[in-house]
Amino acid sequence: MTSFFDKFVKINAQEFTSKWMAPSNIAFVKYWGKRENQIPANSSLSMTLSECRTITQTHFIPSDHLKVELFLDGKENPAFSKKIFNYVEKLIPLLPVLSKVHLKIETSNTFPHGTGIASSASGMAAIALTMTDFLYHCSGLSKTLDFYKEASFLARLGSGSACRSLFGGFTTWGEYSSNEFATPLEVHESFKNLNDSILVVSSEEKKVSSTSGHGLMNDHFYAERRFTQANFNLNRCVSALQSGDMDLLGSILESEALSLHAMMLTSPSPYILLLPNTLKAIEILLQFRRDTKIPVYFTLDAGPNLHLIYPESDKKNVLTFINSELSHLSEMIIHDRLGDGPVLC
Ligand code: DP6
Repeated sequence: MTSFFDKFVKINAQEFTSKWMAPSNIAFVKYWGKRENQIPANSSLSMTLSECRTITQTHFIPSDHLKVELFLDGKENPAFSKKIFNYVEKLIPLLPVLSKVHLKIETSNTFPHGTGIASSASGMAAIALTMTDFLYHCSGLSKTLDFYKEASFLARLGSGSACRSLFGGFTTWGEYSSNEFATPLEVHESFKNLNDSILVVSSEEKKVSSTSGHGLMNDHFYAERRFTQANFNLNRCVSALQSGDMDLLGSILESEALSLHAMMLTSPSPYILLLPNTLKAIEILLQFRRDTKIPVYFTLDAGPNLHLIYPESDKKNVLTFINSELSHLSEMIIHDRLGDGPVLC
């Protein structure tokens, strides 16, 4: 895989500006647990979103050493600057040109701050895209389809789930396709217009970060069984997505969400990210589905917010249901849907 980057080893830094939009994604089969170098312990599968996204412009200036300045919504953010500096510094052995550049990064998210929606996937994907663009510019090479694979590889080294935000539609990452970058997955026509309404149950910052949660899987009593379950679910999820089986897809979605939280509940240092309103919303949703047979299913990421996944054909009924029965349990609702992937701005 490093051969991808061999063509950039001898390039010199040139002044360049690149601006990209990258979307967030929601995992249907969860990445939870990793090995060295951001290699996932199991395969995962996600749906790329459309509305939750990050827009990032990076100005690359030749310099005698690496320097990173990051501005979030126009305001310098020293904590993020440091985080990105550490990330870019780790890439220098692979891409020596990065030791001779000053990165001025301006970034903003389309989703409001403090929604509990992780910006690391869209954020790292957008930065990786601007860096890959810079590499191509300095090398004088023209871009091929490998461009997105390479950006996915670089995004993965910043945040695992970010590598899946480089493609529209559905993507897999892990042994099923490749551990090093994500790969798009063709799905049945009926899933090309799935919706994801996100119930922001709490916008408070998580008590335990995802990165620490992955770490707790290293000594987890159930780790190996969980990795086996995820790989098993991934194969079933791919067949549900390719055959158009919404009920099978929905049952995997919910099982994966609960298994993810079960890992937190049973980890060596147990913790709970679910809130009373998360459980109330799940109960109301399950009752609604039993009563109406409308195929709306939930998933969760590493937090209390509920993602409701449903087909476009049921949108009207689901929105009425959300507004009348669930909105009082959440601080805010973001209506998102399947997206087409990153865009050069
Ligand atoms: C629960 O990608 O945020 O959202 O690689 O340490 O940055 P790092 O972790 P991150 O973990 C995401 C975990 C998850 C499941 C998923 O997106 O697959």
